[in-house]
Amino acid sequence: MAPDHESQLENHPPASAPVSPPASFVEQANVADEDIYEEFEENWPECWARAGDLLDWESDYEQVLARDGETRRWFEGGQLNASVNCLDRHVEAGRKNKVAIKWSGRQNGTRSYTYLALKREVEEFAASLRELGVEEDDVVTLYMPMIPELPIAMLACARIGAPHSVVFAGFSADALATRMNSADSEYLVTCDGYYRRGTPVHQKSKADNARLKLDHDVAAAVVVERLGDGTPLGDSEYDYSDLIARHRNATVEPVPRDANDELFLIYTSGTTGEPTGVRHTTGGYLSHVAWTAQSVLDIKPEDTYWCSADIGWITGHSYIVYGPLALGTTSVMYEGTPDYPEKDRVWELIERNAVDVFYTAPTAIRAFMKWGEEYPEKHDLSSLRLLGTVGEPINPRAWRWYHEHIGNGECPVVDTWWQTETGGMMVTTLPGVAEMKPGSAGPPLPGVSAKVVDGTGEPISSNEAGYLVVDRPWPGMPLSMVENEGWFVERNEGYPSLEGFDWVYFSEDAGTVDENGYITVLGRVDDLIDVSGHLFGTADIETAITDTEGVTEAAVVSGPEESDGRGAATVYAYVSTAEGYGEELREDVIEAVSEQVSPLAAPDIIVFTPDLPKTRSGKIMRRMLASVTRGDDLGDTSALRNPEVVGELESAIDSER
Ligand code: WT7
Repeated sequence: MAPDHESQLENHPPASAPVSPPASFVEQANVADEDIYEEFEENWPECWARAGDLLDWESDYEQVLARDGETRRWFEGGQLNASVNCLDRHVEAGRKNKVAIKWSGRQNGTRSYTYLALKREVEEFAASLRELGVEEDDVVTLYMPMIPELPIAMLACARIGAPHSVVFAGFSADALATRMNSADSEYLVTCDGYYRRGTPVHQKSKADNARLKLDHDVAAAVVVERLGDGTPLGDSEYDYSDLIARHRNATVEPVPRDANDELFLIYTSGTTGEPTGVRHTTGGYLSHVAWTAQSVLDIKPEDTYWCSADIGWITGHSYIVYGPLALGTTSVMYEGTPDYPEKDRVWELIERNAVDVFYTAPTAIRAFMKWGEEYPEKHDLSSLRLLGTVGEPINPRAWRWYHEHIGNGECPVVDTWWQTETGGMMVTTLPGVAEMKPGSAGPPLPGVSAKVVDGTGEPISSNEAGYLVVDRPWPGMPLSMVENEGWFVERNEGYPSLEGFDWVYFSEDAGTVDENGYITVLGRVDDLIDVSGHLFGTADIETAITDTEGVTEAAVVSGPEESDGRGAATVYAYVSTAEGYGEELREDVIEAVSEQVSPLAAPDIIVFTPDLPKTRSGKIMRRMLASVTRGDDLGDTSALRNPEVVGELESAIDSER
């Protein structure tokens, strides 16, 4: 090893060296006792009463988990209303003036709703929905950007027992129509439009186009004014503020829902095929998100908490709306983008609102890194106590950057693995209990049984890649799992041998587990590359590449098989670099992968590119890269945020081959 390399190692701990939470954090943590793992284990499933008991029940549940044949029902016999748990009980507990939602809009507008004000408007809108004919169990589709009327509409639906189906505002008319058809939803709440980076988006006209493609009529559509461009309303269309004014000060008795009644429906963000509708329960789901918001995000009622996701995804449902509001905290909601008007927008908002806990995605963290430290350095971020990430694997270098430059080397970072299907967090460290290992999500939460298994269902323990499964029910599981039906059953059938399990859910993710039981999620099983019979996680290879100085983002896909008959795939790496870096990193990249993963996994072809194709929600679209790699017809690129990069990649790749 070259001498300069050695001294570098002395000065820098290995990227994945464990980090302990500071004593000051542990002292105040909601959960700080490591015995919690054993307590949950010894007392399973009754341990989950700890989550259920965070809620107010209209009638108490009789059993924590009722097992009948193939069904598994959480909090059976209990009745509750989600809007009561998120609103009324805080108002009644003397916290009516506490801010529930603190909203920052584009163009610097702000709005704050106290718990009392939020409850009022939720009841007024619930009364409006009733007037329009919405009855218990009717599905109401919500197609709105990040404006306060979105959580208000969600809670209004919850109050009258009408499941909501939030469709991400950036989706097309076709995507909206597919989801409304699939849910047989006759009610729609949308807005006239909104500004995105200074350009108006005409949301209502997208909704109008969707209506033309429905296989049923829309009974009523409500339109919130956000753009204010005088969008005309047609038959069976109603202005939101007129409705609210007509029902001013209305009270609406909350409808008691069974624990296993549907609270909402959400479609998985799959980029191919038909979207799958995932239905979440009222009692189990709300318990799960309240408990994880308390134990993992460490939320206290007096906190100001910010999750930067969009409510159109499950992260926003669980950790902007239901979890934080069930705990009675202040939840920040931001309508804009992180780099507008300036690249310090996020840090400005954290300083201005004195945010205590911040939860975001690795893709955002990598963008912050790319923009540079000077942006967070302009702001006082000392209010922060805890940081979190979700959505994809976070490479150790990004983890350390987040910990150091945003968390001042002090705030614990929770890397939370979960999915639309799980409703809430499943695998992560408890920040007041365990040390963190950058790059690894951590052990399964207390009471959660997640395992990495091989193709025969046998647990793997040797850091080898395997399939991530959950082999015991958890409260946030959706109705298809409760009832053992539909996509849940079909998915499990599609996979290696899971027959040895009494009950099991296959996550479709791959992972490894280390000697301490820490799980590193590698990504979707489709993201594994088979090189000469060895399985490598594309995420592992990407981590090695992005750990190289000068590299900001990387995506690895498997290329066409070599013609030598070995049947081995070639490894293609798409790499974007920081200002001032480029092609000269080729050797460093190959060396990093050879050392950190395996020489077998070293990329055969490296394409340097200014940007990678991304979905509107910021995920790297590997499917598109795979098509580019194979030279396939790309078809529709409209799901991309930056379709122009595809053409650039096609020419770059030609010059590499
Ligand atoms: C998929 C779920 C759950 C909210 C956000 C996305 C990936 C999620 C992590 C993590 C590695 C992660 C998985 C998972 N993922 N969190 N901490 N480490 N990968 O919800 O759209 O349903 O996506 O996101 O691949 O299956 P989703």
